Amino acid sequence: MKGIILAGGSGSRLAPLTTCTSKQLLPVFDKPMIYYPLSVLMQSGIREVLLITTPVDQDRFRALLGDGSSFGIELSYVVQTEPRGLADAFILGADFIGSGPVTLILGDNLFHGDGLSTMLQDAQASNSGATIFSSHVDRAERYGVVCLDGTGKPVSIEEKPRVPKSNLAVTGLYVYDNSVLGIAKTVKPSARGELEITDVNRSYMLQGSLSVTQLSRDIAWLDTGTAEALLEASEFVRSLQHRHGLQIACLEEIGLQRGWLDIQMVEKASSLTRSSGYGIYLQKVCDNYKK
Ligand code: G1P
Repeated sequence: MKGIILAGGSGSRLAPLTTCTSKQLLPVFDKPMIYYPLSVLMQSGIREVLLITTPVDQDRFRALLGDGSSFGIELSYVVQTEPRGLADAFILGADFIGSGPVTLILGDNLFHGDGLSTMLQDAQASNSGATIFSSHVDRAERYGVVCLDGTGKPVSIEEKPRVPKSNLAVTGLYVYDNSVLGIAKTVKPSARGELEITDVNRSYMLQGSLSVTQLSRDIAWLDTGTAEALLEASEFVRSLQHRHGLQIACLEEIGLQRGWLDIQMVEKASSLTRSSGYGIYLQKVCDNYKK
């Protein structure tokens, strides 16, 4: 299974924060936003990741994440020259995806909670169709909205409807079989001029091959679309990390747990970030590993 992180877009709802940097590089408490979606992919076992960025931001992502080897993964990069929509990921990423399935995660979506990796791995193990993940929200009109029948089968899916038919928002995490490449090519730009992921998902739904997994209320799905939401996400991360003494989205720790990194590589990362809380945590990870 390969993974794509979409980190394009202008981040206009966060201006001037995003005037000279990518939204997905902004801090969520103690680490750049991109760490969180990348950690979700890594925790599900994905090691080959394509990062789609704007042309101007690509170098900054490369400076931060390199080729992924410091986390035990293979990271490649592609540029999206214009914000052409989420479904463009399958056009830009076609060579990378090749003939297999793919998991897409949006670079500004944060997920946290027990059971998320298992849910994602279950979806990845089913080898046909698409799986999307829904979450109950208060203001569904801000998102893609899915409506289910009594058996949990999707019956409608709409992008930011004025009057949502349900409170189930479609989160920015999607698992597709290889037919997504063909489907994405048939999608026409929407009224806002974008290739909508919702149109891709509707196409799967009409073929009867769209599964919807509802995230349990123990799994947090956090938005980072506004300054308030960004601050709330930081507060969420800070308070959980403080309470448990465990980092959320510590990429070197995940690499070590998965056996993709050896302890010397984590020690090196720790020495490079020694003066930050993140580096001190990495040192503790190393100390515990050696016990
Ligand atoms: C996008 C998708 C939408 C989805 C949301 C999740 O919206 O189009 O269907 O619910 O991500 O974050 P956007 O963030 O582009 O407005």
